[in-house]
This record gives sequence, C-alpha cells and structure tokens, in this order.
Amino acid sequence: MGELEGKRVMVTGGAGFIGFHLCNKLQQLTNDLTIYDNLSSGKIENVKDVPQAKFVKADILDLKTLCSQPKTDLIYHLAAQVVVPYSMENPMEDFDTNAKGTLCVLEKARKDDAKLVFASSAAVYGNPTQLPTTEEYGFHPFSCYGLSKVVGEEYCQMYHEQYGLDIVITRFANVYGLRCHGVIHDFLDKIAQNPNKLEIIGTGKQSRDFVHVSDVVDLLVTVGQSKTANGKTYNVGFGKTIKIIDLAKMMLTILGIQNKTVITTTGVSWQGDIHTIWFDNSKAKQELGWNPKVTLEEAIKEVIADRNLQL
Ligand SMILES: NC(=O)c1ccc[n+]([C@@H]2O[C@H](COP(=O)([O-])OP(=O)(O)OC[C@H]3O[C@@H](n4cnc5c(N)ncnc54)[C@H](O)[C@@H]3O)[C@@H](O)[C@H]2O)c1
Repeated sequence: MGELEGKRVMVTGGAGFIGFHLCNKLQQLTNDLTIYDNLSSGKIENVKDVPQAKFVKADILDLKTLCSQPKTDLIYHLAAQVVVPYSMENPMEDFDTNAKGTLCVLEKARKDDAKLVFASSAAVYGNPTQLPTTEEYGFHPFSCYGLSKVVGEEYCQMYHEQYGLDIVITRFANVYGLRCHGVIHDFLDKIAQNPNKLEIIGTGKQSRDFVHVSDVVDLLVTVGQSKTANGKTYNVGFGKTIKIIDLAKMMLTILGIQNKTVITTTGVSWQGDIHTIWFDNSKAKQELGWNPKVTLEEAIKEVIADRNLQL
C-alpha cells in the first residue's frame, strides 16, 4: 500500500468531482478513509462508489462536529463553494465556506497535528500578465471566489509558519474528466439538446489550461506522501492553453458534426471570468517528478463515449 498504509486520511469535499476521484484512489492506499461533505454540490452516488470510506455528512463550518471526528494524520481539504458567478452574487456565503471553512479545517489539522493539502485555484492569479504563470506571480484575484481562496492560502501559510503544521498548497487550473461539471459537459448538454447549434458564453476567446483529474489525483497522492513538499505551493495544470472556441471546434470534430453545428457566442462573459489560464507547471515536474499524461483530445473522447450521445 506504500506510505499511506495505516494512515488516517480525511477528504473534505470527498463527494464532489475531484474528491470522488481522489477517494477512489486513496481507498486502495489506506484502510482508514473518511469523506467529510455536506452534499451541497457533492453527490451521494460518489460516496457510494467509494465503498471503503466512512462518510460523515456535515459542514466544515460546524467546527464541533469536525473536531469531534477521530484523530486524522492527513487531511485533503477540497470542500468549497466553487462557482465564480455565485461568489459574485453571494460574497458572504462564498467567504464563509472558502475562507472561514478553511480556517475550521486548519483548526482540525492543528488539533490532530495532521498534515493538510489545500485545493486552491488559478483564480488567485486573476488575469495574469505573466503567461505561462508561475507560482511566484502572486495574488491578483479578480473574483470573490479568487479572493476567498487567497484568504484560505494565507491562513494555510500562517498555520505552517506559526504552528509548524505540514501544509501543501495545490493550485488547480481547469480540472476535467468523468463526473465533472464545467465547460466540456455544458457543451455536451447543449449539443444533446440541439446538435445544430452550440452557444459559447462570452467571446470564445477565453483560454484555459485543462488538466485531467487522473493527473491531479496523481499529484495529490504524491504530495500527500512527500516529505519535501512541506510548506510549498504547486501549480497543477497541463501547461498548455486552448481557446474555448477551439475547444468547441475540437469537440465537434471528434463528434463528427463540425459541418452541421453552428457555433455562436454571447459576446458577454460573467463577472469575474478570467481571460487566460495557462500554468507553468515546471515546479511540480522538477520537484515532485509529476508529469501530466492525459491529453485533452483523448480525454474528450473518453467523456463523449461515457455520455453515449445519440446525434
Ligand atoms: N474543478 C476544477 O476545475 C477546480 C479548479 C480549481 C480549483 N478547484 C478546487 O478543487 C476543489 C474541488 O473542486 P470540485 O471541482 O471537485 O468541486 P465540487 O463542487 O464537485 O466539490 C466540492 C465539494 O465540497 C462540498 N462542500 C461544499 N461546501 C461544503 C461545506 N461547507 N462543508 C462540507 N462540504 C462542502 C460539496 O458538497 C462538494 O462535494 C475545490 O476546493 C475547488 O475550489 C477545482
């Protein structure tokens, strides 16, 4: 089983998209896995599909319940409010979940002297002028979601420096794969409804760095076991960027409907939308030996096959 054998591991947000894939892997590596999730956006099917994990349906803001869980050695903190437009409409709720919620999870880690791996986001960089963006670019959040993730990161740093906690910050680009939400699935939903038209929200010129969830899980498992990642921050992206309009074209070509489907754009994006995400991932590659493998094209084929679209 390796380094995690015998370790007590907790995954907050384990019923969500990335949490499910992570827990699916972790149940092979440890016999003591707990999913802690309030199911606000997570799914009970995801929990059921990780049969070896114990499930606690509770909120990270419920500090009493969180801290009354058995002592943990390693916490992956993934629970979050993840929708940027929602954060702009509901900044207080976003702050509570992402900033205060992270502080609660840090308190649990402090109580247990547990290691903590924090899921942060490209949103902390805002609209970066440095492309590809390195970890050193610094915080320039552009949305309430980005800002609440910055606060979460800063508390992690503080707990590492002042309480000596073993903490690793991982900043994700656009994670995708089976069971995912997001642009690839939105496009497939729209095409399933009407294969003659595909509307892109925004100009279509927004550009994203798509990293497959299996590669993200590899990195999370690696940092969870690493002795040298303590106190460090890693970009988790594929290291390439693609315009959303080109993603749409790629998907139509894979589906074989590129001559039939008309692509349109709304021209107007949502508040807080980032223009370009393009990560420099060389730090994770060099220091952790991580190497994202899954290409966008092969993963889109996998997602399409899974959806079994009849066009
Ligand atoms: N998916 C991406 O592309 C992406 C990109 C950057 C960062 N991230 C970060 O990765 C993490 C996981 O994202 P995801 O895509 O799996 O999202 P998700 O919405 O699928 O999962 C989040 C999980 O957290 C749970 N949750 C939310 N609030 C909670 C609370 N107060 N108490 C307990 N549980 C709560 C939800 O029920 C859900 O299961 C998040 O922290 C997110 O900010 C994701």
